[in-house]
This record gives sequence, structure tokens and C-alpha cells, in this order.
Amino acid sequence: MPKRSSFRNRFSFYLLAIGSACGLGNLWRFPYIVGENGGGAFLLLYVFLALTVGMTLLIAELMLGHFTGVSVLAASRKVSIQSKKPIAAFGWLSVIISAVTLAYYSVICGWVLHYLTQFIMSLFQSDSSAYLSHMSVTMLQQNGWLQFMLASVHLLISVVIIVKGLGDGVERWITSLLPVFGLLVVVLLIGSLSLDSTPDVLRFLFYPDFSKLNWNSLGHAVGHVFFTLSLGFGTMVTFGSYFRKDEEHLPTLGLRVTLIDTLISIVAVLLIFPIAFSTTKQPLTDPSLLFEVLPRFLSTYKGGVIFGLTFFLCLWLAALNASLGLLETITANLVEKRPHLKRSVAASISGLAILFVTVFPAFSGSLFKSFKLRGHGLIEIFDSFLINGLLPIAGLGMVIIVTLGLTENDRKELFLHEKSITSQTMYPHWRSALKWVVPAVIVLGLLLQVLGLFFA
Ligand code: PFF
Repeated sequence: MPKRSSFRNRFSFYLLAIGSACGLGNLWRFPYIVGENGGGAFLLLYVFLALTVGMTLLIAELMLGHFTGVSVLAASRKVSIQSKKPIAAFGWLSVIISAVTLAYYSVICGWVLHYLTQFIMSLFQSDSSAYLSHMSVTMLQQNGWLQFMLASVHLLISVVIIVKGLGDGVERWITSLLPVFGLLVVVLLIGSLSLDSTPDVLRFLFYPDFSKLNWNSLGHAVGHVFFTLSLGFGTMVTFGSYFRKDEEHLPTLGLRVTLIDTLISIVAVLLIFPIAFSTTKQPLTDPSLLFEVLPRFLSTYKGGVIFGLTFFLCLWLAALNASLGLLETITANLVEKRPHLKRSVAASISGLAILFVTVFPAFSGSLFKSFKLRGHGLIEIFDSFLINGLLPIAGLGMVIIVTLGLTENDRKELFLHEKSITSQTMYPHWRSALKWVVPAVIVLGLLLQVLGLFFA
């Protein structure tokens, strides 16, 4: 049995699951996909899907990990043998997606690192506002080597932390990070909501105009729910395997993580949109806009540089924490597959393999600039193909593993809480949602995106 780090207590488990869920997906990706998909109607659709499809699958993944006590590869093999059903291959899909996602995620984390260093450098300039106003993501995207180097630094730090052991390293990071980040976000939110653009933003976000939804909206919402809740990667299976049932009730945990993550995403949108509206007079629809808009906004305020520095530091730490979830999943799977490998060796091999994949998104704006599909560059293709396409398919794989691999009795026992009548009432709803609603929504989302390619 490979050596596993264990959770000291229930609070640590919450921190880890929430830490993996909350990252760049909430603060960077969510605002611009809400903008891209027209605002209020998409936001409503997203919240509905997070609380139904997302939460249902989150509980299922934690359940699979807890039931088998191992990570997704070994877990899918184990239930495949037990149930005599050919479902083991889905585990592989999740691990491959985790590795490719971490490569892409590291490049965006590299952007955050770049901004962090720019904020630090601006402290030594005579006119820091002027210095910061020259920062541009477009320039960064055109510099492949710089992006690759920044992503490498990020990956290297992740590998070192994993080698040192998840429980010890990460817990302290998150515990010290959360209150500071929370405070910064609240201050920024107050500042942002007091801007003149707020009424327009509130109308854009909370007055749903369903005509703005398009062929891709359902697929984009499903993909983002999976991405932000870290579903389909096997991460939650790994975390579930560390979890002791006497410490917490699985569905309660799933509900809380979903609620917190959704709330943070909504706060992120409320924070970023007024700034974007007031500086660009339009909602965010572009991946680079958070990086373009926020530093410029902060640089106009007294003390904005220190604020921005702390904000980007916290953002990077949150992203680092999410990256650790991915790397931990890949490492744990590798160690279980090859038990003779030391954890440190497995983490290093994983890091190197991921670094190789990082070349493609890092050089998408330079070396691979001419590679375009329907006008989209390599980094956008990475994002779309991975998150809107492959991830929902991996999610479907998880549904198949849990519905076919576990027996009704196993699922029931893991879902029910001895004393709670609510859990008994909820069980049949959860089971039907997992069996019918989640697959139907995933398939419909994928189908509409394919149709959109022909009819949009
Ligand atoms: N949920 C993270 C985010 O929203 O940024 C991304 C992520 C982290 C996905 C860890 C998967 C994972 F294992």
C-alpha cells in the first residue's frame, strides 16, 4: 500500500476540498465566460447546474474514493473487477485530462506570477502607476520563452511541495492564506460596487435575457461547473480516499463545497465587472481582461500597488493550491500503479511530463501562432477542447463508474447518515439525478456545441 498523507482533522479536509475547487477558475475564468455568454441568463443557468449536476457528481466522486480507498485509476480498476464491468478505462481519461489541464493551468499561473513580479518591480520605480499601465497580457502571450519559464517555476514549486508531503505543506498555506484573501476581496468588492458602473452591471448580471444564450452556453456552463468544482479529474476521488466517514457526512461535504465555490464565483463576477464596465465600457469577454483591467484600476489609487501586490500574491497562492490538487492526483495514481516508485520520484516524473505539454500553450502566441482553428489560437483550443469537451466526457465516465461499479447497497450506505431523515429523503433524488439528469445534461451540452459548429 503506498504511503498516503492523511488529514489531521475534518477542518483540514474542508480546506483541502475548497482549496482545490477555488482558484483561477473562479476569479479569472468565470467572469469572462459569463461575459462571453451574455450575463444574467448564463449566470442563472450556471448556478442551477452547479447545485444540481455539479453537487451530484461531487458527492459521487467523493463516494468512489471513500469506498475504494484509492485514487481514480486503481479505484476504477477495483470496481471494474468487482462488478465485472469493463469500466476501468474511464480512470485513464481522468488522469490524462488532469495532466494536460495542469500544463495549461501552469501557464495561466505563470501570468499571475508575472503580474506579481511587475507589482514588486513597480515599487522601485519613480512613477509606479505609469509603469503598471504598460503591462499587457498580449505582450506576455507573444513571449513564449517567458511564459514557459514562468510556468516552469510554478510547476517546480508545486513538485517540491508535493514531494514534501501534502498534509504538512498545504494545510499551513491555506490556513494563512484564506483570511487575508477574504479580506482583500471584501475591500475590493466594496470599492468596485461603489463605482458608477454598478447599476449597469447589476442589470447585466441579474436581469436574465434568455435570447443571449447560444448553442454553446449549456456546454460552457457544464464544462465550467466541472472545472471549478474539480470534477472529472479524479481529484475528488483522491480526496475522498483520504476521508474518514466518522469525520463528516459525504453529501453534506459535497453541498458545502458546492455552495462556497458558487458563492465565490458570484463574488468574483461582482468584483470584476464594475471595474471592467467602468474602464472598457463593456463586460469581460476575453481571457486577458482580468489581467488588463485590474492592475490599471488599482494603479490609479493611492496604496493600490501594495493592494495589487497582495491580491496577486493571494491569487497565485490560491492557484498554487489548486495546482497541488491536480499534481497530487497524478502522483497518487502513479504511485498506486507503480508501487516501487518513491513519492518524490513519481512527483518529479509527473512534473517533467507536464512541463513537456506546457510547451504548447506557452508558445501558442509565438512559435505556434499560425496554428489556428476557426480563428482560435492554440491556447483557446486547449481551454475549449479540454474544459468544454473532454471534461464533461470524463464526468460521464465517473457517472458510469459509480452507477455500474458500485451496488445500490454500497451507494446507499455511503449516502445515508444514521440519524438524519433528510439524507433518507434526499437519497432517491440524488440517485435519479446521477443516473438520468447528469448524463442527459452532459450529452445535450456536447450535442448542442457540435450542432453550433454547423448552424451558428
Ligand atoms: N477548480 C480549480 C479552479 O477553479 O481554478 C481548477 C482545478 C484545480 C481543477 C484542481 C482540478 C483540480 F484537480
